[in-house]
Amino acid sequence: MKILAIMGSPHGMKGNTGRLLEEVLVGVQQEGSEVEVVSLCEFKVLPCVSCHVCHKTGKCTLKDDYEKIKEKLLSCGGFIFASPNYIHCVTAQLKAFFDRCACLIHCVALEGKYGAVVETSGGGDDADVIRYMEHVVNVLGAQSVGGIGSKMAGCRVFPDEESLFTKGRELGKELCRCIQEQRQFPEQDAFRNMFKARMKGLVESQQKDWAYEYEFWRTRG
Ligand SMILES: Cc1cc2nc3c(=O)[nH]c(=O)nc-3n(C[C@H](O)[C@H](O)[C@H](O)COP(=O)(O)O)c2cc1C
Repeated sequence: MKILAIMGSPHGMKGNTGRLLEEVLVGVQQEGSEVEVVSLCEFKVLPCVSCHVCHKTGKCTLKDDYEKIKEKLLSCGGFIFASPNYIHCVTAQLKAFFDRCACLIHCVALEGKYGAVVETSGGGDDADVIRYMEHVVNVLGAQSVGGIGSKMAGCRVFPDEESLFTKGRELGKELCRCIQEQRQFPEQDAFRNMFKARMKGLVESQQKDWAYEYEFWRTRG
């Protein structure tokens, strides 16, 4: 089984978020899973231009790496979103990727998958960014296994590092175990069910224009 990590830091794996993600990925590997890291700073993912073509055809027409990364996300066993805190949100690189996932979100296309999130910050406020990324996991249709975040204490150094890294490895293991056991998170059901019904209604209301998404819902198992 492959776990895909999508990393939003402009420092890729060399920064603070990369250091914390490394520990989560050690946990993943200790459970016998393969890892693949997509560092967005090494790929080209342009901002969404709201042309709505993806809703009609299922594909984005912008000439960049989005479709390639999307296919990796659709075929992975589980996934991790990782980002530093940039003004109480994710980096522009990761936000651009999320915006480009509008078609996947309309189709809640990652239903059945599991995601985890990793964040670091300069001075705290980790919870807001973790919550936001877990929300994106849910609107994509997946269940969130949890998140880890910490302020930094220098370059690739954290306060109470031993305990943080232990928790990071545990999160990686937990992600794999949840997939193996098909664990359910009933506390996420109310929101996920409400959102799924909303997206179905939205796509149905646009059925004349959004042919791909309408067909996706019509033929959904
Ligand atoms: C543009 C920018 C905005 C930032 N905004 C915040 C912020 O709002 N709150 C915070 O605690 N840290 C903030 N930081 C600090 C980073 O979140 C922190 O240094 C992080 O660990 C960097 O991770 P990286 O090395 O993986 O890029 C910001 C840094 C940058 C460059």
